[in-house]
Amino acid sequence: MHDLVEEAASMIRGAKNLVAFTGAGVSEESGIPTFRDPGGLWDRFDPYEVGGGDVFSSLYRGGAIPASATGFVSEMLTVLEKAHPNPGHTALGELERMGILRSVITQNIDNLHREAGNSLVIEVHGNIYRLACLACGGRVYLSREELFPLGWKLVECLRSGDMQGIISIASRCLCGGICRIDVVAFGEPVQDMPRAVAEAKSADVFLILGTSGAVYPAAYLPEYAKRAGAKLIEINATGCYFPELVDLGIVGKTGEVLPRIVERLRERGS
Ligand code: APR
Repeated sequence: MHDLVEEAASMIRGAKNLVAFTGAGVSEESGIPTFRDPGGLWDRFDPYEVGGGDVFSSLYRGGAIPASATGFVSEMLTVLEKAHPNPGHTALGELERMGILRSVITQNIDNLHREAGNSLVIEVHGNIYRLACLACGGRVYLSREELFPLGWKLVECLRSGDMQGIISIASRCLCGGICRIDVVAFGEPVQDMPRAVAEAKSADVFLILGTSGAVYPAAYLPEYAKRAGAKLIEINATGCYFPELVDLGIVGKTGEVLPRIVERLRERGS
């Protein structure tokens, strides 16, 4: 591992445009379950039942919500409320502060890259702390202090089938429109993809961190970087998911490997 970390550090040290692409694995050490690891969320919930676009529309039409969706929302609130940036997130924030990392493209909705200090974060699957107005499309960020009481009240209304209560929780936009959580459900279009593709194409070194690459179009991004001539480094706890693309693959936890890379860069005064 020592040599692989050294090799990754030297590739990153020479980068002019380092871009990171992250998945659920980066947040696993913050206590947020991944989706496809054994025992992960999609082992226990049906993604189309709990995370399909019609859950939102049926919610706001006062239709029935599957009980599993209530369980899923409750589990996500429990883990997200306790989740904070882990050493992997902090290392990426550090790489930006060192003037080395240009942007993070993430599939995660947990806001932890922003909390770790990264400023250019492209969230292709949305952000659970952001509301989107169904009328004017305006966006509103919620603080932790605002999001979780709202979320727990929603779970209570879902459990009791109090549809009026649900509509009353839906925050109002300044335009008077009803808002929904700004996350991309299955079957809905992803967000900010043109910007994500442009970032991937601009990279000369592209990090693939903690993703199985199972979901498109996000999983095309490493290919865009490769075609544009970037060197690709993958860090994944269980193996290499982009074997035909990566120049360097490290099997390890991002919360352990990324801080060692940053330490190596500091030692060499990058
Ligand atoms: N460090 C590095 N990698 C890890 C760690 C860790 N600590 N823990 C798990 N992993 C790896 C797993 O080996 C797996 O390859 O992270 C990956 C997580 O894969 P998924 O659970 O499929 O998550 P992700 O790739 O982000 O899924 C993409 O699918 O369901 C949708 O919207 C959802 O954004 C998600 C998308």
